[in-house]
Amino acid sequence: MSPYGGYWKQMRKIYAMELLNSRRVKSFAAIREVVNRKLTAEIADKASAQTPFNLSQMVMSMTNELVIRAAFGDDCKQKAEFLDLVRETLSYVTSFAVADMYPSLKFLDTLTGLKFQLERTRDKLDKIFEEIISQRQVALAAEQAEEDLLIDVLLKLKDDRSLEFPVTYDSVKAVIMEIFLAGTETASTVIEWAMSELIKNPKAMEKVQKEMREAMKGKTNLEESDILKFSYLNLVIKETMRLHPPVPLLMPRVCKETCEVMGYRVPAGALVLINAFALGRDEQYWGSDAESFKPERFEGGSVDFKGFNFEFLPFGVGRRLCPGITFGLSAVEVGLAHLLFHFNWKLPRGMKIEFLDMTEISGVTAPRRSPLLVLANPIMPLP
Ligand code: HEM
Repeated sequence: MSPYGGYWKQMRKIYAMELLNSRRVKSFAAIREVVNRKLTAEIADKASAQTPFNLSQMVMSMTNELVIRAAFGDDCKQKAEFLDLVRETLSYVTSFAVADMYPSLKFLDTLTGLKFQLERTRDKLDKIFEEIISQRQVALAAEQAEEDLLIDVLLKLKDDRSLEFPVTYDSVKAVIMEIFLAGTETASTVIEWAMSELIKNPKAMEKVQKEMREAMKGKTNLEESDILKFSYLNLVIKETMRLHPPVPLLMPRVCKETCEVMGYRVPAGALVLINAFALGRDEQYWGSDAESFKPERFEGGSVDFKGFNFEFLPFGVGRRLCPGITFGLSAVEVGLAHLLFHFNWKLPRGMKIEFLDMTEISGVTAPRRSPLLVLANPIMPLP
């Protein structure tokens, strides 16, 4: 997420070739299975109590756990403390800083205490990172570490003298932090919106569950390789991301040269925001039913996630396109497949689907404003 230039280009290459290539994302399949088994077991517990529960929060915990295990392994002692700090950091991303609007008044951020809070959080995070890194280095040196975690890849690169921009401890910490900020809430947001839309649209829910349960032909142990058989699930994910792109305004751009767009002069240095949310609901591209949830609209079409279709940009576009597409999509597909295959879903105590709140929070990401409260009914036995 650093500004465009040599360092960004190098780190981007590291993301593509080393950190998030498809081989490595595949190697995290066992972690995805563990975290989803834990999630489904927790849901089965709640289901037996027959009381409504907060699915949004449970899915968020699952994606947090997934990323923390992929980054640091399953025995990270600082897990809870680290996740609390990530949450705190995320809350600052959308908080209002006077200096962002009026740089000459930045002293006000000191007076309001914001600067102090940011520095305190940074120091706490830094201390935890130091502890995690040194524990991992000890384990790697003692050859007790079997997995190739994200932190291992970065620590190996730290000693690579051939890199034009040396990877320092600070870059290791920054990349890990960035992966948490970019990769946890985005994936959980897609899952909670897909579940909300499916509950609100019972025909689509029935279709996706029927397809999955028939394709499994009596097998009850859902594996990642089964997901290839679920073609309607793929359409459901696309349609969810059209209506609810988790990063609705993408990452801000800066205009490099003054130019004219549709008669408007855009000066060099202007901040440019791309409204992926509005593009995904524009009737000009999606027809008069643009606001309706209809996964079939993607059937047989060529619209994909790579940013080539400007009316559908859930992972962004151009050179800033999300480097975590494979990681993010696997998390969403596996998570949703487990929820939909094992359970049937309804709203708490006679609540009508028309009354399900479908508003989002307007921030860097756009999760549901109110948590998704549901009842689950186990259908397929858990492994
Ligand atoms: C479903 C899940 C995800 C969605 C919807 C998503 C979406 C996005 C979007 C819209 C952008 C901005 C692209 C632009 O402005 O053109 C972005 C950037 C980014 N994403 Fe993702 N993302 C997801 C998962 C992940 C994951 C799992 C990771 C890492 C493990 C990740 C890492 C990043 C990074 C590092 C950037 C900044 C890239 C740059 O500035 O060069 N994302 N993502």
